[in-house]
Amino acid sequence: MAESDFDFTSVEKRLGVSRRTFLKFCAGVAASLGLPVSEAVTMAEAVADPKRRPPVIWLHGQECTGPSEALLRSEQPSLEHLILDLISLDYHQTLDTGAGHKVEEIKRKSMEENKGKYLLVIEGSIPTKDGGIYCKIGGETMLDIVNEAAEHAAAIVAIGSCASWGGVPSAGINPTGAKGAPQVLKDKTVITIPGCPPNPANFLGTVLYFVTYGKLPPIDAQGRPKWAYGRLIHENCYRRPHFDAGRFAEQFGDEGHRQGWCLYKLGCKGPETYNNCPSLEYNNVGGGVWPIGVGHPCFGCSEEGVGFHKALFSLADVKTYEPPTAFPRIEDRGIDSGMTPGAAALAGAAVGAVVGGAAVAAKKLGESDKAGSGDGHE
Ligand code: SF4
Ligand code: F3S
Repeated sequence: MAESDFDFTSVEKRLGVSRRTFLKFCAGVAASLGLPVSEAVTMAEAVADPKRRPPVIWLHGQECTGPSEALLRSEQPSLEHLILDLISLDYHQTLDTGAGHKVEEIKRKSMEENKGKYLLVIEGSIPTKDGGIYCKIGGETMLDIVNEAAEHAAAIVAIGSCASWGGVPSAGINPTGAKGAPQVLKDKTVITIPGCPPNPANFLGTVLYFVTYGKLPPIDAQGRPKWAYGRLIHENCYRRPHFDAGRFAEQFGDEGHRQGWCLYKLGCKGPETYNNCPSLEYNNVGGGVWPIGVGHPCFGCSEEGVGFHKALFSLADVKTYEPPTAFPRIEDRGIDSGMTPGAAALAGAAVGAVVGGAAVAAKKLGESDKAGSGDGHE
């Protein structure tokens, strides 16, 4: 990666992370966006410029605070440092130390002073039934608060499945008329980062793009950034060789489950869910910490109409039977994959790529190579 003569000292100081850690993350985001890896330096330069630190108004509706909690618990790289220093978090109902009228005043002041410049982040669904009375903050309905804050926002991000399409509160009979931000703000562009909780890296990468280029990244029909949600989980799942070979776990704890076989027959919704969980995993601890990695079927938490709506053990619609061009890695899981030598060689190459670079960056670089056509990334 060409690093130019850019001085990273200010980035290291501001974000509390090493130049190396930060560049690895930026390189991963750049690769996922189909941008040259050299764009990592452009991103770092943008972050180093305090003038490009956008004010953020962060609202909470009907939710469990999962997205904020996930964000705060992320570790290496220290995303909480990046988030809190990459942006100017002017209002966040969970993190604000103040409360009551004082913080409401700060919110209004920030929105007034930063008209057309602030980033609006919405977490949680918005109840719309009976005039929105089922969620009130400071005496106002969430519905009114969202509409008011959206009016002069530079960009709007819905974080988590509840904010993206209603999530848990919209399941079943939906007694409060819970909706996602895109359904409430119909005349606005809302970028969605679904997941329960969403991977903090997907939010950070989106904000990083916004800070660098002054606009939001390309999105799909559901408003999701293509760089993060461009592929089905099934396409990159390390159990995929078992699916293709017809080896399935039939019950939790049976021989197939213990052997790490495919979870499709246990209701895995990976074949109809778009997300990058197999590549990024969770908590940055490595070792396969994500639902399928720990033996649980994906339940489609990030997919509208699947998570919280389809029965857990129902069989997923398989959108593609095409095997991946290179099978995902299966190293360090002690799994008898049954892969052909050719497939194993490809998997070995992928492992080599991971060893050679940052966990996130290298994994995403490898995917980018596999994608070939760019898969719609603009
Ligand atoms: Fe992985 Fe689920 Fe697809 Fe099986 S069905 S390969 S466990 S995503
Ligand atoms: Fe959610 Fe499935 Fe990923 S349940 S966290 S989209 S593996």
